Amino acid sequence: MISAVRVEKEYHLGETIVRALAGVSAEIEEGEFVVIIGPSGSGKSTLMHLLGALDRPTRGSVLIDGKGISMFDDYELAAVRRNLIGFVFQTFNLIPTLDSLENVLIPAQNSQGALGAAEHRAIKLLKEVGLSDRMHHKPGELSGGQRQRVAIARALINNPKIIFADEPTGNLDSATGKQIIDLMKKLNKTDGKTFVIVTHDLGLLEHATREIHLFDGKIVKDVKRRAREK
Ligand SMILES: Nc1ncnc2c1ncn2[C@@H]1O[C@H](COP(=O)(O)OP(=O)(O)OP(=O)(O)O)[C@@H](O)[C@H]1O
Ligand SMILES: [Mg+2]
Repeated sequence: MISAVRVEKEYHLGETIVRALAGVSAEIEEGEFVVIIGPSGSGKSTLMHLLGALDRPTRGSVLIDGKGISMFDDYELAAVRRNLIGFVFQTFNLIPTLDSLENVLIPAQNSQGALGAAEHRAIKLLKEVGLSDRMHHKPGELSGGQRQRVAIARALINNPKIIFADEPTGNLDSATGKQIIDLMKKLNKTDGKTFVIVTHDLGLLEHATREIHLFDGKIVKDVKRRAREK
């Protein structure tokens, strides 16, 4: 579905070059629940940004459904992202002045179709993530776990095939974090959504159907396995 082929990423900071990824190849397949793990600075977020087409590699290629993203201009790439990919971040990235429903609707604004249909879908998604009674609360009126649920509903609004989550439980206590993981697992199992989750949390590994370990910008371990039943 999405693959990285010998990707390298360098950041230029004045005279110095930071090599964030030093030749990484991986293919994400439909239905997987992938956990990317590794120490701080090992290149996890950089890899996620490249696989999610938020950024382009310095060398190597990223393929989405077999097509190299270098073929797309920024406008086309934004359309690919909007239709295929959802993103969830550690800090939720919700707009404080908008309520849950409005936040979920943000990515739908530029897509095809009537807003009425999008609104119905947003309501359905907020119910699905357990927020039927929080549709008109603003982020400041929600708990951390509830905010992350809004962010997950927002990631799902355009019915993407794949969701990338960068430290989705990083700002949550462990019980709330577990609920968020359970929600993502459920979306993976019942709706067949593919997940790629970046984390420091070793506890998430037990849920993974695949674990990718990064160290110093390289993959040092990439194993697939059946998730342990819980
Ligand atoms: N925009 C940038 N400009 C310069 N260097 C960067 C930039 N983004 C990341 N880096 C560097 O690239 C390397 C990889 O960063 P990355 O954010 O991918 O790490 P990470 O594994 O996600 O770390 P963490 O667990 O702390 O989030 C780090 O050394 C970082 O300092
Ligand atoms: Mg990171």
